[in-house]
Amino acid sequence: MARKIIIAGNWKMHKTVDEATELVEQLKQALADVKDREILVCPPFTALSAVAAALDGSNIQLGAQNLYPADEGAYTGEISPRMLVDVGCSYVILGHSERRQHFRESDPFINHKLKVALDHGLKPILCVGETLEQRGEGRHKTVVSMQVYRGLHGIDAEAMKEVAIAYEPIWAIGTGQTARPEQADELHWAIRNNVEGLFGEDVAQETCIMYGGSVKPDNVDELMAQPDVDGALVGGASLNVESFIRIVKFQA
Ligand code: 13P
Repeated sequence: MARKIIIAGNWKMHKTVDEATELVEQLKQALADVKDREILVCPPFTALSAVAAALDGSNIQLGAQNLYPADEGAYTGEISPRMLVDVGCSYVILGHSERRQHFRESDPFINHKLKVALDHGLKPILCVGETLEQRGEGRHKTVVSMQVYRGLHGIDAEAMKEVAIAYEPIWAIGTGQTARPEQADELHWAIRNNVEGLFGEDVAQETCIMYGGSVKPDNVDELMAQPDVDGALVGGASLNVESFIRIVKFQA
């Protein structure tokens, strides 16, 4: 089976309902002819419902930026996987470095969320990545491998077919400093090796490994040309219609 390509916009804490709807209305028209890659937008929770309605019948899928791993209950301020499915999400971003950093999310908690997401039919995008300090100490591959092993602990090979991994070096997020294509590919290759160790070669070859961290119209082609880069998780540049269209229509 061919590896799937996913270009996803992680809108983070941006866009009101009106702003979100306007953006996807424009994306929907401009990207209607894209058939050979999956397109995904991940708005904030408050805009999911309106964006789902605006995207109805289009080739753009909907994802959430997080979930809480329970069906329902006394978890003030949290959003359950059932609610995400109900509103039309097919994907969920898990373990983003901003959640690890600001909300102290641990690998076991992220692993728990990942399993719950799969149980509900949501496709997880597991984010991993090292800090500049860890890279400086030469520990980047070890750090990322540990995040992969711990994040995927207890998942079986069949379920793994629904999981995508996003390599997002923390030093490249929102900084304008992208990993050089060969730096990204080195880590993507290492991650694929980790996946192979856990689930075998066939699953590893099929796993979509996305790159995130200052992906822009002027660097996407080079990044996507790397053999082990199968997609992009785009922050800032996904908030602008023209730049996200150009990124989705990358030419590798
Ligand atoms: P930027 O594209 O703004 O660097 O953000 C990347 C990211 O964190 C996507 O999840």
